[in-house]
Amino acid sequence: MDRELKKMDKKVKFTAMKNGTREDYQLLAELEKPFLSLTADRVLNELREAGNATLEGYKITRLEHGLQSGTRAMRDGADIDWIVGALLHDIGDGLAPQNHDRMSAEVIRPFVRWDVAWTVEHHGIFQMIYYAHHYNWDRNARDKFRNHPLFKTCEEFCERWDQSSFDPDYPTEPLETFEPMVRQVFNRKAYDPAVLREGFISSLTRKEEKMRSI
Ligand SMILES: [Fe+2]
Ligand SMILES: [Fe+2]
Repeated sequence: MDRELKKMDKKVKFTAMKNGTREDYQLLAELEKPFLSLTADRVLNELREAGNATLEGYKITRLEHGLQSGTRAMRDGADIDWIVGALLHDIGDGLAPQNHDRMSAEVIRPFVRWDVAWTVEHHGIFQMIYYAHHYNWDRNARDKFRNHPLFKTCEEFCERWDQSSFDPDYPTEPLETFEPMVRQVFNRKAYDPAVLREGFISSLTRKEEKMRSI
């Protein structure tokens, strides 16, 4: 423990990155490990924060919206990648409200299947089908992805788990239910091809076996 603390006390010698030595950078790599291992905690804290600083006007908080999306995914029989994707699909709202979908996708991208990351990245434009016409915007803006192999997936994600998850009366699971899943996903090796499964399209519900490769 003492030795660990001593290591934490250590500092690099440089004041500009270009002057750093191999020893400096080895020290930084060593000290980055505990920081990386706490990513799940930081993500969970951000989600909790979404229960405090929320968007006014909705019947539920942003935390409750994420929990409800995750709960619906879980009850639909979705796998862990989809459940965590649903739970965190709006995690970027706090820092990037104008491009929250892309920000949310970047948070999960190293640790989930590619079809989940793509869906989270594009859910914003797909969701417009439900409301954009009320602002005189193009509710069919998502049609530019009509030929994308994940069009149906993203459409189904929004219909089942996102647009439907603003209901204060829905029996939603608490954050504790999802914590072990979030930890498991964020403890995966980043960008592991076996996790990302580029080109593989999974079923959201696994009710029918429609998983396929493209
Ligand atoms: Fe969203
Ligand atoms: Fe959402």
